[in-house]
Amino acid sequence: MAVETTLVLIKPGGVQRRLIGEITRRIELRGLSVVGLKLISAPRPTVEEHYAEHRERPFFGSVVDYLTSGPIVAMAIQGENAVKAIRATMGATNPVEAGPGTVRGDFALSIDDNLTHSSSDPEAAARELALWFPEGTL
Ligand code: CMP
Repeated sequence: MAVETTLVLIKPGGVQRRLIGEITRRIELRGLSVVGLKLISAPRPTVEEHYAEHRERPFFGSVVDYLTSGPIVAMAIQGENAVKAIRATMGATNPVEAGPGTVRGDFALSIDDNLTHSSSDPEAAARELALWFPEGTL
């Protein structure tokens, strides 16, 4: 059994729409554990580092602007195959391709406001957790 820890960010739109509880409820009911949790105004340099792989993409500026436009929730989520399980729970990055029953399939329509970010693989998870939880997780 591969126990993994992954990062979930609830983006400003998810916080404004009061979806913190709904998203966290789905993660917990799936059988995954919250081992780190904070509501923060993300510092711009942290968001730029988080999205460093997208620096040359046309949407880099707008996604950084968006992530710094209001409070976000950063969560460390742990459990068996947590990286893949979380991505399946959230649904496809583009909400119009996300199936019903996923967070994005049920609550989002636009790729610019797709409610959450989750780590793409275990290496990204380790890098992103170190960035958002430098103090460590439980
Ligand atoms: P996220 O998983 O947080 O990673 C990068 C974010 O950029 C992505 O979710 C989307 O919200 C946003 N984005 C905007 N346009 C695109 C695009 N064409 N491809 C991928 N991500 C995009």
